[in-house]
Amino acid sequence: MSEFICPVCGGKLERCEKIYRCSVGHSYDISKRGYVNLLMSQASSKKRHGDDTEMVNARTRFLSLDKYSPLRDEVSRIVCNELYARGGGVIADIGCGECYYTEHISKALDERKIAHQIYGIDISKKALDAAGRRKANIELAVASAFSIPIAENCSDVIINLFAPHEANEFFKIAKDNALLIRVFPLAKHLWELKCAVYDEPYENEIDTLDFDGFTLLYTKEMKYGIHLDTNRQILDLFSMTPYCYKTSSKDRAKLDNLDSLDTRVEFCIAVYRKTAK
Ligand SMILES: C[S@@+](CC[C@H](N)C(=O)[O-])C[C@H]1O[C@@H](n2cnc3c(N)ncnc32)[C@H](O)[C@@H]1O
Ligand SMILES: [Zn+2]
Repeated sequence: MSEFICPVCGGKLERCEKIYRCSVGHSYDISKRGYVNLLMSQASSKKRHGDDTEMVNARTRFLSLDKYSPLRDEVSRIVCNELYARGGGVIADIGCGECYYTEHISKALDERKIAHQIYGIDISKKALDAAGRRKANIELAVASAFSIPIAENCSDVIINLFAPHEANEFFKIAKDNALLIRVFPLAKHLWELKCAVYDEPYENEIDTLDFDGFTLLYTKEMKYGIHLDTNRQILDLFSMTPYCYKTSSKDRAKLDNLDSLDTRVEFCIAVYRKTAK
């Protein structure tokens, strides 16, 4: 049995060769990339459903440079320690994107022989196409972070990296005492990149640490510099940011002749435990 649930009746889904099926008989095809679409609100085909191809490709290329590997390794370490202490368990990655972090976590757990199942959901089919190409041992579903099709009280660890979240939904899918790991950018994340684009760059607004139903255990800030040495790398980094949409073509064009850039990256890892409400 999978921990994914049927978006129609809420029953557990069973994973068969090419479909997921609930006991009532609702069934969902598994795409050739290996994900299932459990998103019910396809009302408008024009509506943006998460990251598009350009953004996903840019992020896949950029992350493959491993400039964010210190963050990846730290998140992986926290997950491994938690699941080791719990004797294995279920991980839910909400807004998993192309699973750069998730794949690494799965491999790290395999190396330490810690039993696990990982579920990744993302609203973008394009992101899950890329995630599926990794052929990692992760069950993937197109779904919204605001209506998560994962069984109640089943997750030992929830990860939510640079992605939307809804505390009530996390509370629902988390076991009592589950660990939640959130990652978000700090005020001066990518500051030099922003200075190269904007005449008057703004600092990032920092996410609030409050998370209903979860107690903050600790935060860890990671701040370091990265060096980019091609225009492609610079454009990819810019294209995977949310500012990309809001930038005029005139400002964006300032990056066209830039062949190297040193910029700081600043992340906050916030680690919580589920508590009774
Ligand atoms: C900045 S990316 C982060 C992806 C991945 N966690 C990482 O760090 O590489 C944000 C992701 O959230 C997804 N997303 C946006 N809105 C969403 C929603 N309502 N539900 C689920 N995922 C969503 C996007 O498609 C995108 O893949
Ligand atoms: Zn059903």
